[in-house]
Parts: sequence; C-alpha cells; structure tokens
Amino acid sequence: MSLQLQPLFPLALATAQLRLDPMDSVLLLQDVLGLRGEATGNPNLGCAWTGDINGVWQLHQLPAFAAITAEVQQHAWAYLQQLGFRSDQVALHLQRAWPVVSEPGQGVGRHHHPNAHLSAIVYLNGDGSGRSGCLRLFPPHQSNELVPGLAVGHDGPLDGSGHWNAPHVDIAPRTGLLVLFPAQIDHAVTANEDEGDLRVSLAFDLALSAPLCEQPGLAPPEYLAPHPQQWGALAGP
Ligand SMILES: [Fe+2]
Repeated sequence: MSLQLQPLFPLALATAQLRLDPMDSVLLLQDVLGLRGEATGNPNLGCAWTGDINGVWQLHQLPAFAAITAEVQQHAWAYLQQLGFRSDQVALHLQRAWPVVSEPGQGVGRHHHPNAHLSAIVYLNGDGSGRSGCLRLFPPHQSNELVPGLAVGHDGPLDGSGHWNAPHVDIAPRTGLLVLFPAQIDHAVTANEDEGDLRVSLAFDLALSAPLCEQPGLAPPEYLAPHPQQWGALAGP
C-alpha cells in the first residue's frame, strides 16, 4: 500500500469569475485612474499606488462602484456560509474599499490587514498570465518544512516547487476575477513586468460582528464583537 498524505487544516482561498461587461470594466478603469490623479505610486520606492493611504478608501460610497461592491458582498456571504458561519448569527461590514494601480516595475510588499477579518480583491484587468504582477499569498505556518525556515532557505534540501512546502502561492490577475481570503494572511503583489500596461485592482476589507442584539436577556456570542451600532464612543481625554 502506498503512503497517503492528507491536507489537514486547509486555508480557504475563494475565487469567482465575475461577468464584467467589457464596457463597464473600461469605465471602472477610467474612474480609478481619475481617482489616482497625478500620483504614480506610494511614497516607498517601487510601491504601487494604493488608494487606502491616499485618501481614496471609500469606493463603496461611490455610485460607479455600487454594482461591483454588491457582487463582493454576495460572494463574501457565500464564503462565510461555506466556512460554516450561520448567516443569522453574524453581521458583515464593509470597512474600507480602495483601488490599487501598479505601474510597470511596481508591486506591493508583504503585509496583512490587521484592521479587518476578510479581504476581497477584484481585478479590473489582467490576462491570467501573471505578467502584470501576481497576488502572492504566504502560508501562516510551514508545518511541513519540519526544520523551521527550510522552505524559504537557499540551497536547501527542499526544492521549493512541491505542494507540501510551497513558500507561497501566486494568483494571476484576470479581468473580473474576485478573490477572497482571511485578512490575517500575509500577502504581497509581485512586480508588474508588463512594460506596456498598468495593473489595476480593487481591494475590500470586511469585518464581522454580532448582529444587532436588542432583545432583553440575550447577548452577542462571546468572541464576536458586538454590532458597532451598540458600541459607545468615549469622549477624548
Ligand atoms: Fe493587501
């Protein structure tokens, strides 16, 4: 009998191909470039322009982005349901939504989104080749490298190509591709190597809370934040 390996504790990366009308995606691309204005990148060298730190973090409030935001919302609920969340026991909030534009040579360094619980990305362009820069997801733990650090070390005994010890997984952008993943997962965007084109995506941060809980005697689940409407803002010192 041959040896069997089982993937335990899998990370749930979700993808869906949205049916973006070509005309709509061109209009959205134009809107994003208009919002970017004269800027061509973030202050740190080689970094793509990201709306979240440049004042463009509420795309979900703009009518032009309402339809795509609704798609994100619908798929986010489907993601939660597939993960086992009971939809009547959780509320979902869109916290922040912003465009990202990579000029040729630009990418985004490794980071995660500690402010959020669930992250979504929609690509407004890309041909699936990855030439314009891939979303790179890093595993939270390298349980199978056996020796800590081996999966990312140079000249090691691991060849780096194997599924069980991959140091990262790359997702190539394609027009209309929607991606969802836990916001705590480290990720990056590799450099745009397409000299002739920009790479454009929309990013969304979502947060989970308890639903509004107004019935006397009932309380939100222990480890889920109560609904933000039931928080109390404190005055400053
Ligand atoms: Fe990110």
